[in-house]
Amino acid sequence: EVAAREKVIEAHELTAKLYHYLLMNTTHGQPALEYLRSRGVTDKQIDHFMIGYAPPEWDTLVRFLLKREFDADLMEKGGLLVAKQDGSGYIDRFRDRIMFPIWNRDGKTIALAGRMLGEGQPKYLNSPETMLFNKSRNFYNFHHSRPAMRKSRRIVLFEGYMDVIKAWSAGVNNGVATMGTALTDEHAALLSRNVDEAILCYDGDSAGQAAVLKSIPILEKVGLRVQVAMLPKGMDPDEYIEAHGANAFMRETIEHPVSVTKFKLIYAKKSHILLEEEGQKNYLLEAVRIIAELDSPTEREFYLKDLSREFEFSLDSLKQDCFQQRQKLQ
Ligand code: UTP
Ligand code: MN
Ligand code: MN
Ligand code: MN
Ligand code: MN
Repeated sequence: EVAAREKVIEAHELTAKLYHYLLMNTTHGQPALEYLRSRGVTDKQIDHFMIGYAPPEWDTLVRFLLKREFDADLMEKGGLLVAKQDGSGYIDRFRDRIMFPIWNRDGKTIALAGRMLGEGQPKYLNSPETMLFNKSRNFYNFHHSRPAMRKSRRIVLFEGYMDVIKAWSAGVNNGVATMGTALTDEHAALLSRNVDEAILCYDGDSAGQAAVLKSIPILEKVGLRVQVAMLPKGMDPDEYIEAHGANAFMRETIEHPVSVTKFKLIYAKKSHILLEEEGQKNYLLEAVRIIAELDSPTEREFYLKDLSREFEFSLDSLKQDCFQQRQKLQ
């Protein structure tokens, strides 16, 4: 069992190196390299994240691994190969994709993710769950971000591989991402053992913002202080960095996260038509409900004051509503 795990790790290490070599040093890898460059990915990023390329043939990795006397059945269990349906052998899981090695907490390669060079489905193909790889427990880039995480006692959570990579060059050395899965309690528990604070920096589309809303209670439950770094509508961190540069990304988003309450208020506001009386009233009531969740009277007053100024409502009536909402919460 231990020996099998060691073997699977060894195979992953070699595979990552093979794919990296194919990307950087062969004509096969040229289109992939051009694709990466067209997206602003630098050689430094390719090296640091060991980005590679899996060629389109069905058996590049099969032959590579069998020549090195790895057991094909074990390689299939480890997620690198796929058994043919007719039982006549194995094929490579990843073909014609840009490859991102995934490391465990000790920096061992335990899985891979592959992106298509263009559009298509699935855009990213991740290794399946194996004896080594558990999506609900692992983060992309956790190992590399550990020193920065420990020093700052803070983590920045992204949605995607590219976001982590681009943000790393922008100066976010404590950035990680979940991989094709929502944030779990296990993820949060791991974070709470390493940091005190989490900044959520998800995509600026509705899926990303909905995911922020879902992640907040999961992180708060384990005692983390949570803040939200917001992006302009429809942009993800990678796109923002490409469009506006690393400095703007740091200055405008990462260094100025908003509080959870502020985020919830902004999010709620979007679902109401404020130009209509009914919409405005419903937003105000929802806003008061959000503020009522805060335990600190000072904080409640802070947001209520904001609200009363913005809508020219008396602070008194908002406070009374808030009080009533709090009684319902007890
Ligand atoms: P996104 O759709 O936001 O992709 O998914 P992205 O990270 O911006 O990718 P690029 O910039 O187009 O290359 C966010 C994350 O969700 C997972 C991946 O981890 C991805 O980074 N995902 C997405 C998958 O696992 N499979 C998919 O098909 C798509
Ligand atoms: Mn290299
Ligand atoms: Mn997205
Ligand atoms: Mn994205
Ligand atoms: Mn993206």
